Amino acid sequence: MRKSLFSLMCLLALACGTTATALTVTVPIPRVNIIPQPKELVEGKGSFTLTARTPLVAQGDSALTIARFFADKLNTSTGFALQATSSTAAHRGAIVLRIDPKLPLGIEGYTLEVNTQGVTVTGRTGQGLYYGMQSLLQLLPPAIESPTKVASMTWRIPAVKIKDEPAFGYRGALVDVCRHFLTVEEVKKHIDLLSMFKINRMHWHLTEDQGWRIEIKKYPRLTTVGSKRIEGDGSVYGGFYTQDQIREIVKYASDRFVTIIPEIELPGHGMGAIASYPELTCFPYRRVYKVRNLWGVEQDVYCPGKETTFQFIQDVLDEVLPLFPSEYVHIGGDECPKIRWKECPDCQRRIKEEGLKNEEELQSYTIRRAQKMLAKYGKKLIGWDEILEGGLAPSATVMSWRGEDGGIQAANMGHDVIMTPGSGGLYIDHYQGDSKIEPVAICCYAPLEKVYNYNPIPAAIAPDKRHHIMGAQANLWAEYLYTTDIMQYRAFPRVIALAEAVWTPQEKKDYKSFEHRLLDNAYRRLDQHKVNYHIPLPEQPLPGSKASASLNFVAFTDTTSLTLQTSRPITIVYTTDGSEPTAKSARYTAPIQIRESQVIKVASLLPSGRLSRVRAITFDKQSYSPAVTLSSPTPGLCTQTSIGDYYRASELAGVTNWVEGVALTTQELRPDRVSNHMDEIQRKSVVGEGYIKIPEDGCYVFSTNLDQMYLDGELFIDNTDEVSKFSRHDKSRALSAGWHKVKFIFIGTVRGGFPTYWDDAKVEYRNLKDGKFSTVTADMLAH
Ligand code: ACM
Ligand code: ZN
Repeated sequence: MRKSLFSLMCLLALACGTTATALTVTVPIPRVNIIPQPKELVEGKGSFTLTARTPLVAQGDSALTIARFFADKLNTSTGFALQATSSTAAHRGAIVLRIDPKLPLGIEGYTLEVNTQGVTVTGRTGQGLYYGMQSLLQLLPPAIESPTKVASMTWRIPAVKIKDEPAFGYRGALVDVCRHFLTVEEVKKHIDLLSMFKINRMHWHLTEDQGWRIEIKKYPRLTTVGSKRIEGDGSVYGGFYTQDQIREIVKYASDRFVTIIPEIELPGHGMGAIASYPELTCFPYRRVYKVRNLWGVEQDVYCPGKETTFQFIQDVLDEVLPLFPSEYVHIGGDECPKIRWKECPDCQRRIKEEGLKNEEELQSYTIRRAQKMLAKYGKKLIGWDEILEGGLAPSATVMSWRGEDGGIQAANMGHDVIMTPGSGGLYIDHYQGDSKIEPVAICCYAPLEKVYNYNPIPAAIAPDKRHHIMGAQANLWAEYLYTTDIMQYRAFPRVIALAEAVWTPQEKKDYKSFEHRLLDNAYRRLDQHKVNYHIPLPEQPLPGSKASASLNFVAFTDTTSLTLQTSRPITIVYTTDGSEPTAKSARYTAPIQIRESQVIKVASLLPSGRLSRVRAITFDKQSYSPAVTLSSPTPGLCTQTSIGDYYRASELAGVTNWVEGVALTTQELRPDRVSNHMDEIQRKSVVGEGYIKIPEDGCYVFSTNLDQMYLDGELFIDNTDEVSKFSRHDKSRALSAGWHKVKFIFIGTVRGGFPTYWDDAKVEYRNLKDGKFSTVTADMLAH
């Protein structure tokens, strides 16, 4: 790492006993901290300072367009009025932007030279020049990304020589606007952020079971009906882009060298369209089709037995394809259940007439027909790796998501491949910290380092097939992105790690250096854009384990301690007086001893001074809550079940239609299982009451995904309004050995796309000293 000239000059100033010269060097030269790490980079001596008089000189028309783009950008934060001019003459003290088609680099390659005399950025193409300028921006102080003028800043650029080009041509990010809709402005902001890190593809997932998001003039119901879903709480969720808005976004992206690849899903994941036009499915009159308000996979899919279905697909593509200049179009192909096709006379006739072996081949037939439709427009097809099943369409590109096997197989068959395996950390809808305290996510664990370390070329690919790997993509599915803030939290910084994984040569990748560049530079730039990026939270480990099981309410009887860890190295600050932590608060260095009841507030601190969300951890000194004696305990909990459409436990207050019963386990408190639709069942809520047997005196942590848990007569865990996918709000209590009164409440509903009927009704416990949760078993329950 470059030693800043600042410290050197300060030393000189002190040595000379003068402060006069020190004034001119009070601004440090920014360090060279570019992401993605350039292929070749040599740091020089000294720096160049951008001023209001720095000429911005473009050589050639294409370079001038790019120079104007960056002049606007620089003027916004510097407050200068730089004007890009066109000239081929030599300029001292200028920033020169050039395009040189003979540059011996790939088409996205560039060179960047900064010395004390000026800056020259040369792209092999306009795209290369754009990337050279993005690297230049990253050499300037992070405030260069400010949306408003930053006064009294010295805009120094450290001397450097860079020769750079990407390792892979496809550097992608999937955006799912079907589950979580983004406004036009939000999409543009995301494109800005992607392009800062040289991501060049945005895979735009536009049609789904949970909503159709693109205007199709010939089929108005796709947006009047298909773009809206009624959520579990009765609210309407929706949104779509008009064709004009699509054009606007495509142009915006193209100005930033991001190619948008639209995904129009078929033959599965089509309920947005089917709800609008039920004749698209095999059995149009079997039930009322609605845009799906549950996550998961719809069983009713397009019917490839009917010619009218293909006419619909053709009509849609006729309107969609002219909107997108991309050479590639994604037609989905994943997760298409074949159950309806098996019993549909039209599908079966098609199988027979076309000499297909089975429903897998019918899927392949459907994809091939879509491919022909694309080919008419000169477009190439991308599909998820299921398109391998039943035979791969000629020249199709495979997006490998179920691990790498599909990608390996396709590449070995001579097809192009884009790697997006969840197993490789590229499903960035997965958790990146402790599920007890992170916003609810679909599952799994994809920390930053895992994304960073992903190598798009699996060892199992034959060396002569490796060129078929076009690159990789991070997929941000949006089921559990309930706000755009959470969307950013999941995307950043993991998308930035992906950017380096696909740009920087494998042998130059260095996670520690990346982390450093992220903390010192990229995060500060994201701050200027007010991006809600993920900062690892202080977590509590399970005793004797590295795994976390954070707990915001810790009961103790004598003394206890607080141990904290983070999912990657980061400073932790804390307070013990109830005040909010700041950058100046005490640093956590070792377990904190606790003797009295208190609230400890903890946060992670970045080098920039920014703090993570604050966690308040309550320590409550208690005496063991006494057990009760049961003269003749009867197994199980007494239950009361009410049929009704409830959303919260508080709605049960006036209910009278209770039916009594017994649940031998807490799992039985969930009265039914839903596999696909809520109309499979009658909705119910269940209250289970009785006693739980505590094995020995101790402080016990309880964890449940039920709506509420009462313990010894008090509301103990309250999950009201939570998505019941993971246990939230764990809590502990000091309990004497023996029977304690409990009550559990199950509310049968759908919250945030997740039916409470999907997961087992879980109640787990552990002694605070223990490193493992156990399930509450039948022998622990009585009434
Ligand atoms: C996918 O995640 N279903 C492609
Ligand atoms: Zn059919």
